[in-house]
Amino acid sequence: MFITVSGQKGGVAKTCTSLHLAAIWSGRNRSVCVVDADRNRSALAYAVRGELSFAVVPVEAAAKATRGADVVVTDGQASSDEEELRHLALGSDLVLLPTAPKARAVELSVELAALLRRVGVAHAALLVKVDLRQQRAALEARQALESFGLPVLGAEVPLLAAFDKAEAQGVTVDRATDDRGRADPRRMAGWSAYCTVAQEIECLISKPSSVASRIISPLPLSA
Ligand SMILES: Nc1ncnc2c1ncn2[C@@H]1O[C@H](COP(=O)(O)OP(=O)(O)OP(=O)(O)O)[C@@H](O)[C@H]1O
Ligand SMILES: [Mg+2]
Repeated sequence: MFITVSGQKGGVAKTCTSLHLAAIWSGRNRSVCVVDADRNRSALAYAVRGELSFAVVPVEAAAKATRGADVVVTDGQASSDEEELRHLALGSDLVLLPTAPKARAVELSVELAALLRRVGVAHAALLVKVDLRQQRAALEARQALESFGLPVLGAEVPLLAAFDKAEAQGVTVDRATDDRGRADPRRMAGWSAYCTVAQEIECLISKPSSVASRIISPLPLSA
């Protein structure tokens, strides 16, 4: 299974999403490799403490490292040019577009989805950093994405300080602790959101082609 996590907007949890999905599939006894295709090498930096249960490699090492992997998750970078995006996307079973419920993030995902549709690659948006006190913003973002024909996963990833703590500690969110080493009280909300995302992705990919083609359906004429 080849998943590419992509998006033109910086800081929308592409790396966080790549690593958490990888951790979940790795925990289910799949051989997983994350390919860091970002020049900033954020996924590699996250993994440097050696706390993750799967390989993270720079894109230059992907050919060798991904041989034999059951799951390859590619972490893309913000502001890639069109050609770079096309190359990253082609051959993916699904391109996942993490999207924060903000106007600019939605706009950039819609633009990227149009490119993916042109090249015929299945894709879906994932709402991330959803502030639970502002559910309306998430609902509006979902409706806006869907109005442009962009499928949106049902699961939403909540905005949680536990993700920042986890990153600083080089662990996944389920292991996030505070400064005194106490488990973060909200950590499992973040983890279970990504578990649902992983499940939804597997369902989408395993669907027969008639359903899969819906996820790359053309833009409605009114869009
Ligand atoms: N659900 C979340 N709630 C709160 N903070 C989050 C969440 N997901 C990610 N973050 C934090 O947001 C920041 C940006 O996340 P991340 O690096 O994954 O984004 P990115 O899209 O890969 O960024 P870049 O464009 O720089 O590659 C990080 O500090 C990360 O810990
Ligand atoms: Mg990143």
